[in-house]
Amino acid sequence: MSEKMTSAQVRESFIKFFESKGHLFVRSSPVVPHDDPTLMFTNAGMNQFKAIFLGDNPKGWKRACNSQKCLRVSGKHNDLDVVGRDNYHHTFFEMLGNWSFGDYYKKEAISWAWELLTEVWKLPKERLFATVYQDDDEAWQIWKDVSGLPDDRIMRFDAHSNFWEMGDTGPCGPCSEIHYDRGDLATQAETFKDPIKGVNGENDRYIEIWNNVFMQYERVSDGSLIPLKAKNVDIGMGFERICAILQGKTSNYDTDVFTPIIAKIAELSGVPYNDGEAGTPHRVIADHIRAISFAIADGALPSNEGRGYVLRRILRRASRFARLLGQKKPFICQLVQVLADTMGDAFPEIRERKEFVASVIKSEEESFIRTLDAGLERFAAISAELKKGDKIPGDKVFLLYDTYGFPPDLTGILAEEKGLLIDEEGYEKCMNEQKERARANMKQGINTMGTEGWTQYSEASTNFVGYELSACETKVVRWREDKGVLSIVLETSPFYAEMGGQVGDKGTLVSADLEIQVFDTVKVNDTALCRGKVVKGEANEKTMGAVFMATVDNDRRADIRKNHSATHLLQAALREVLGTHVQQQGSFVSNELLRFDFSHFNAMTAEEIQKVEDIVNAKIMECLPVHTDVMDVDEAKASGAMALFGEKYGDKVRVVKMGDAGVEFSRELCGGLHVQNTGNIGMVKIVSESSVSAGVRRIEAVSGRGALSLLRAGTQILNALREQLRCKDAEVLDRIQQTFAKTQNLEKSLQFVKLELATLAAAELLNGGINVMGVNLFVRELSLPDEKYKNLLDGVQNKLDVDSVAVIANKDNGSGSIAVMVGKNVQAKGIKAGDIVRDLAKACNGKGGGRPDRAQAGTREPEKIAEAIANANNWIRAKLGA
Ligand code: ALA
Repeated sequence: MSEKMTSAQVRESFIKFFESKGHLFVRSSPVVPHDDPTLMFTNAGMNQFKAIFLGDNPKGWKRACNSQKCLRVSGKHNDLDVVGRDNYHHTFFEMLGNWSFGDYYKKEAISWAWELLTEVWKLPKERLFATVYQDDDEAWQIWKDVSGLPDDRIMRFDAHSNFWEMGDTGPCGPCSEIHYDRGDLATQAETFKDPIKGVNGENDRYIEIWNNVFMQYERVSDGSLIPLKAKNVDIGMGFERICAILQGKTSNYDTDVFTPIIAKIAELSGVPYNDGEAGTPHRVIADHIRAISFAIADGALPSNEGRGYVLRRILRRASRFARLLGQKKPFICQLVQVLADTMGDAFPEIRERKEFVASVIKSEEESFIRTLDAGLERFAAISAELKKGDKIPGDKVFLLYDTYGFPPDLTGILAEEKGLLIDEEGYEKCMNEQKERARANMKQGINTMGTEGWTQYSEASTNFVGYELSACETKVVRWREDKGVLSIVLETSPFYAEMGGQVGDKGTLVSADLEIQVFDTVKVNDTALCRGKVVKGEANEKTMGAVFMATVDNDRRADIRKNHSATHLLQAALREVLGTHVQQQGSFVSNELLRFDFSHFNAMTAEEIQKVEDIVNAKIMECLPVHTDVMDVDEAKASGAMALFGEKYGDKVRVVKMGDAGVEFSRELCGGLHVQNTGNIGMVKIVSESSVSAGVRRIEAVSGRGALSLLRAGTQILNALREQLRCKDAEVLDRIQQTFAKTQNLEKSLQFVKLELATLAAAELLNGGINVMGVNLFVRELSLPDEKYKNLLDGVQNKLDVDSVAVIANKDNGSGSIAVMVGKNVQAKGIKAGDIVRDLAKACNGKGGGRPDRAQAGTREPEKIAEAIANANNWIRAKLGA
């Protein structure tokens, strides 16, 4: 057995083996599936081939193989909570896979699996077990013939373990697995049939290494199964598990896939690794750093919703475990380098993006470390209310998870230290409710894949002619209607389907009997769908089968072209002004505006923004020619064309160049629509620059007609201001500042006059008064509008002398108020306005308080006010000790 094979050699030998069996190597798709709204993260090797299984195979592929980056952290396949506790489950893992698209079937699939495992890799047969779906006699017999395994080691299982589905809907089928016994052969006979400790019992002795799915159905939204047109094979093998076996290790974490990362964790933290419970933090972190880094490298960012939310949770789980290793500063980010060193050869994107990935992780960790302390405090408060042996309620465990990012297993550890338990059931309930909410959100995306409800006329795949044409004659390949909206696949189509940030085209489809308004064109997997509404006629099998004139709304498209080309100029200018760390993080190009997200750490200064805008407009004025070449993806990248990381490119790509040949100002891989000459853009105006998330900035800009209307609107405002202020353009700002200053002065004068008037009125009010043990007391009851009463009180305060106390009540509109003011000398005797008002107000069920010199109370029983204030005299007497 090949004990010395490194993980890189294992990967290579798998791929070589299947290439020798006529399979095409297709590189791994990103872990973030950009074009499948039913899926949060890539969870199996077959994801990128979903449409092919469902019958759309425009390239006519028959066999493929690769090693696919997968994440199982949400949805149907979710291993997050067990990661780190055992030694063979992961959030991120590689799935070695081989596929047949309507080509070979069970016999070849099984024989090749057996050949690779036992002849190439020389695994001992006595340690291997096969499983088949309960009534799949055909697969059972093939196993028997191919492997010669004893009958009871070809085991039958029900749909729970041997029917594989990608998600709630999509392709699926019965499966046949291979399990490996890592235990003592002497006890095999008595253990392998045990439902818990044996094969398929989810234990670490008998582990599943290989899954052959015989894809022959599609699960549709009502839960039923529809047979697929072709019978396919979808095979997945756990890369980390097979590496462990081939390297003679019992734990995946002891293979060279993980050892460099674990060694780094031990070195940086000073806590040595231990393969028992004490090593859980090392294992969790080593696992999570892979999931987090690849997700970020492939275009996800931590956030509060959808996949960004899941990513944030994983990162926080890792960060919390780092705290258990005594790390109070950002720690996870320091591991990106070793990950890039270990995996960069197989997946270059991680090496190319390592600085960006590390910086995103670092700032996310910094903010979590602040939350973590708050969470620990919250935990202390929750646990303080419980006594030993109590359960922490499920909603509190969930709160710690949801708000403070504490995974429940960590809350469990903290609880244990205090002799507490956690209410797991209650937590699960809250968690399920949360999952339901997340699922409901995911489902809002359009799921245009699947074979349900289509009327199909031919097998053609769409020929997109929109680069050259904006109208053409065409026929419908297939269509369906959902709530009045038609989804239509065309044979020849001028409509650009939303992709690469550029919005889809709008337009019309017109035949002799029908007129359809196309309001959007979207791309689902590799298929372009026109989404439309019938405006004339009726869509049925006959009318939709006719010849249509397809016409794109060309004015709108011209604006889109301008904004798209402007985006390319913008990216090149940003790199010139800010540096080459500027990488596209996302973009949106419509007819109205362009939005460009890019990696950069600081807010841009006004000068930088202006500089970028100047460069872009200079390139427009230079009227640079725009050329598009179609070439191999590798050739394009080698030529220095900017590519978007995480984007799935085909083998042939378009490279859009702006500028003279060889010295182009911009060169980007791009399938979008562009102007022929940068001069066509007219002009670009940046509208805003803002932050999207840690390390990512966003620019919004307009071009062409959009820029003109923006500038025109600005000029119109300026004109109106100038007329209003009766001055020249250059004086407008000064005039406005002068007007502000003037208004402020007037306001001050007005306040002064108001107080003067109120003081005069107060002087009248404070006439007379009674002497209570040397205190001059004024008790008055008024009935004034509220505003006037307030002014008057200011006057009273201004006028009241140091030896006096004023109790001024007011009744207005069913409510009442008592205000008390106390002069300085009286305060010195221990008499405070707040105390008086509080006690007096009790008699009219009022409440209030305030400072020692002035206080106020309100009441809803104004009829009792007179009685309340009549006590003032006695109150003062009592206070002064009479
Ligand atoms: N798609 C199958 C799995 O993920 C091979 O197990």
